[in-house]
Amino acid sequence: MYRYSWALAALGAISPAVVFASPLASRGPGYISHPNRLSGVKEAFQRSWNGYYKYAFPNDSLKPISMGYDNDRNGWGASAVDALSTALVMENDVVVKQIVEHIKTIDFNHTVVGGESVSLFETTIRYLGGMVSAYDFLTGPSKGLIDADSVQAILDQAVNLAELLSVAFTTPSGVPINDLTFNGPNGPVTSDESTNGIATIGTLILEWTRVSDLTGNDKYANLTRTGENYLLNVKNPDVGEPYPGLIGTNVNIQDGTFADGSGGWNGGTDSFYEYLIKMYIYDSERFAVFKDRWVAAIDSSIKYLASHPSSRPDVTFLAAYNGKGESNLNFVSSHLACFDGGNIILGGLTLNNKDYVDFGLKLVEGCHDTYLGTVTGIGPESFRWQDSKLGNLTNNGPAPGGQADFYAKNGYWITSSAYILRPEVMESYYYAYRATGDTKYQEWAWDAFLNINKTCSAGVGFSGVTNVNAANGGAFYDSQESFWFAEVLKYSYLIQAGDAPYQVSAVHRNEWVFNTEAHPVRVAGRPI
Ligand SMILES: *[C@@H]1O[C@H](CO)[C@@H](O)[C@H](O)[C@H]1NC(C)=O
Ligand SMILES: *[C@@H]1O[C@H](CO)[C@@H](O)[C@H](O)[C@H]1NC(C)=O
Ligand SMILES: *[C@@H]1O[C@H](CO)[C@@H](O)[C@H](O)[C@H]1NC(C)=O
Ligand SMILES: *[C@@H]1O[C@H](CO)[C@@H](O)[C@H](O)[C@H]1NC(C)=O
Ligand SMILES: *[C@@H]1O[C@H](CO)[C@@H](O)[C@H](O)[C@H]1NC(C)=O
Repeated sequence: MYRYSWALAALGAISPAVVFASPLASRGPGYISHPNRLSGVKEAFQRSWNGYYKYAFPNDSLKPISMGYDNDRNGWGASAVDALSTALVMENDVVVKQIVEHIKTIDFNHTVVGGESVSLFETTIRYLGGMVSAYDFLTGPSKGLIDADSVQAILDQAVNLAELLSVAFTTPSGVPINDLTFNGPNGPVTSDESTNGIATIGTLILEWTRVSDLTGNDKYANLTRTGENYLLNVKNPDVGEPYPGLIGTNVNIQDGTFADGSGGWNGGTDSFYEYLIKMYIYDSERFAVFKDRWVAAIDSSIKYLASHPSSRPDVTFLAAYNGKGESNLNFVSSHLACFDGGNIILGGLTLNNKDYVDFGLKLVEGCHDTYLGTVTGIGPESFRWQDSKLGNLTNNGPAPGGQADFYAKNGYWITSSAYILRPEVMESYYYAYRATGDTKYQEWAWDAFLNINKTCSAGVGFSGVTNVNAANGGAFYDSQESFWFAEVLKYSYLIQAGDAPYQVSAVHRNEWVFNTEAHPVRVAGRPI
C-alpha cells in the first residue's frame, strides 16, 4: 500500500480555510474546506435553480436567455431529478423538498409531445440514477429530512420507470435496444435498431443493480448483466477486441457479436470502462471479473494509446483507434474523454496501484492544459494533436496552418470549440484531489469554476457557449443542460468541501460510488 505525501507548508498561503487533517498520515491525505468557495458554488446552483424553477419547471431544462424551456429528456423534469443529489449534498432543504414533491407526481408512462423517443441510457443515468441516489441519501446521511412515505415513493417511482424501460431488453440476445417509443396503446415499444453501443449497453448495471438491491428483486440486475456479459466476453475478438480489454463500439443486437473494432475513451465507449471499476467498488465479490476487465483495459491504454504531442512531449493524451496497429490510431480526444484520468486514479486507489494513479494524474494534467490554452480558460469539446513518435503517417498530420502557433504552444489544436457545461475535467480534478490531498487541484478547480461562471452566466441561469477560444465564449446556445446541476456544480462543490461519508476515499473506505451522472450510490459490499 502506498500513500501520497502532502505538503502542509502550502496551506499557509490559502485563507480563509478550514483544515481537516487526519491525526494519522496512514489515514490518507488531509482535506481542506473553503467556505467562501462553497458559498460561491451554492450561489451558482441557486441562481440556476431559480431560473429553471420560475421559467421551465417541471419541463426538462431551462433556456436561460429566452427564458423558455426544452423537453429534451422526455418531459419528466430532467433538471429537477438531476439536481436532487446535488441539493442534498449542499443541504439545500427547500430545493430538496420541491424536487421530492415533483418526483411523486411524474407520469413515467407517458412522455410529452415531441418527447416520445426515450433513450434507455440517458433515462437510466439521469432519472434512475438520481432517484436511487436520493433514496440512499434520504435513508442514510439525510434521513429525517423527508417523511418516510415520500422517501418510499421515490423508490416506487424508480421501480415504475425500470418496469417501463424493461421492454428494451426483449431482444434475441438480451442486448438492449437503446431508443424506445412511449405513449403507444400497449405501453413502450423498442425501435428497430440493429446495433447498440458499448457505453449505452455498459452504463446501466450500477443503477439497475441498485434498484434490485433496494427492492430484493434481482430481475433488474439480471437484465443489465445479460447485455454486459457480451462486453466482458467478446464473441468475435478478431473484430471486436483490437487490444486486450479494449473493445469496439457497436454490438449486434441479434447475437451480441461486435460490428466494429473502433473505440477508445471518447463518447460512445467511455463509461463502459468507467463502470468496470465502479462495479467492483460497488460489490467486489459479485463484480470481481469486472475488475479484471478494467485492469486489462487500463494496461492496454497505457501500452498502446498513451501519446505525447510533437510540440509538447511533456503532455499525455489517449489516442482513439479504428482496429489494431499504429496506423489505425487516431490522435483525437475530447472534453468527454477527460473523465479518464479521474477513473484511472480511482482504480489505482482501489487496487493499491501507484502506477495507475500516476498515469491518471498525467492525464489530468493534459486536460488541465486544454483549459489553460484558450482565451476563456475553458477547454474545448474536441481536439487533436500530432503524435511525437510516429512521424508523418497519414493519420498523424501536422496542425492546420491557422492553429500552428496555438499547437506549438499548447500541444493540441481545436476541432470543436464549443463548451456545453460539461463536467469531466472538474470530475478528474476531484479524483486527483481526493487521491493526493494536493491543494493544486483545488486551485485548478476553482480557476475553472470562476472561468465558467464568468463565461457561461447567461440570462436567468447558465448556458453553453460556441467558442471557448473567443472573447466571452463567442455566442450562447441558450441551453442549460441538466448535467450542469448533477455534475459540474457537485464536483465543483465537493472538491472544496471537507470530508464526508459520500466523498471518495483514498484509504479503502468507499461507502458510496458515483454513477456517470455524478449521483452517489451507496455501495452494497464491503467498502474498498
Ligand atoms: C459568479 O457570477 C455571478 C454573476 O456574474 C457573480 O455575481 C458572482 O460573484 C460570481 N461568483 C464568484 C465566486 O465569483
Ligand atoms: C412547461 O412549462 C410551462 C411554463 O411554465 C407550463 O405551462 C407547462 O405545463 C410545462 N409543461 C410540462 C410538460 O411540464
Ligand atoms: C404504467 O406502467 C406500469 C408499469 O409498466 C403499468 O403497470 C401501469 O398499468 C401503467 N399505467 C398506465 C395508466 O398506463
Ligand atoms: C437472476 O439471475 C440469477 C442468476 O442467474 C437467477 O438465479 C435468478 O433466478 C434470476 N432472477 C430473476 C428474477 O430472473
Ligand atoms: C512532418 O512534416 C512536416 C512538414 O511536411 C515537417 O516539417 C516535419 O519535420 C515532419 N515531422 C516528422 C516527425 O517527420
